[in-house]
Amino acid sequence: MAPLSELPVYPRLPLDIASSAGCELVLQDGRVVLDLYGGHCVNSLGASAPELGAAIAQQWNSVSFLSNLFEHQPRADFLTAFGALLPPGEWQAFLSNSGSEANENALKVALAATGRQRVIAFEGAFHGRTAAASAISDVALQPFPTAPLEVTRVAWGDLAACRAAADSSLAAIFLEPIQSMAGVRTPPAGFLEGLCDICDKVGAALCFDEVQTASGRTGTPLAATTYGVTPDIFTTAKGAAGGLPIGVTVISSALARDLPAGLLGSTFGGGPTVLAAATAVARAVASENFQAQVRASGEALAAAARRGPVREVRGAGLLLGLVMEEGLSAAELRSALLERGVLVGTSCDPSVARLFPALTLTVHQAQRFGDAMASL
Ligand SMILES: Cc1ncc(COP(=O)(O)O)c(C=O)c1O
Repeated sequence: MAPLSELPVYPRLPLDIASSAGCELVLQDGRVVLDLYGGHCVNSLGASAPELGAAIAQQWNSVSFLSNLFEHQPRADFLTAFGALLPPGEWQAFLSNSGSEANENALKVALAATGRQRVIAFEGAFHGRTAAASAISDVALQPFPTAPLEVTRVAWGDLAACRAAADSSLAAIFLEPIQSMAGVRTPPAGFLEGLCDICDKVGAALCFDEVQTASGRTGTPLAATTYGVTPDIFTTAKGAAGGLPIGVTVISSALARDLPAGLLGSTFGGGPTVLAAATAVARAVASENFQAQVRASGEALAAAARRGPVREVRGAGLLLGLVMEEGLSAAELRSALLERGVLVGTSCDPSVARLFPALTLTVHQAQRFGDAMASL
């Protein structure tokens, strides 16, 4: 019998990793790589963060897992810690296991709460690979064969097109406040505020996919805080538990009021061990020092990037897109930097490289990146 092989959906990088710590990967041959990829925006408190490991081990050793049939202290602790990061207002959270699932649940809530079927989503969007999440993602990203909802796709930043497409049939406008996969495209001035107005006018839900941008990534707890616009629903995942699988769908209490019981559910979502990790992350992110450090490291990283063949740096905090100079691709930059001991990400735009390191990146590490960029 042939041995089991994995479906070859991911191209793999030629790094033989022996251990990880903070923003560094140690290879089997002893070389150390500066990791500005952060497990694809996941390692919020750093790889193998000792405080996270301790919180996880302690919880596992006391009560490892309980189903959603039970109340438990780690859930209460998480709701308190995470709740402290939210914009003013009354919110309710639903806990699941991934970004796709969090978005799927957000869409289900928006459709159920409004009794409508249609969603405005954006060119370049990425919201996940399950049915509804993939239906609102950009069509170029291999959508699910059939879509469970009606989608009106609009160019990023085109407020006039959104206005023209919004009427009483609209359930939601769904977007990443910063489009990451598309090449870290930030919202044009006034765009998020304009979307908020449109949703208010037609009674649709404004939904932010903060799968990447929450957990302090932009230098404040949420991108919603950074841009000063509060959605009706938002989701997060990736860095929220610092390396364990989690999805969080946060719904304004006004919208959640009349949802049917049993609309959402999950076996693993909200388990004690993952929530012990997520509470440790939320408590760290809540500190103003932590947020200030993300902003300072983000500025240092952007300045370091400008020492290389880059014509624009965009993004916020520690989510940065580097637009390469003419004739150089993000993939070429990644290969050249790997030879110099630095790992960066690419994006769907071949000319844009992405940096989303652990939020514990130091200014000194950012300068190391600058030296590598200057040597190209
Ligand atoms: C903005 C955004 N939304 C949703 C997802 C899907 O998350 P997951 O892979 O955890 O399902 C991703 C994953 O990269 C993402 O970047």
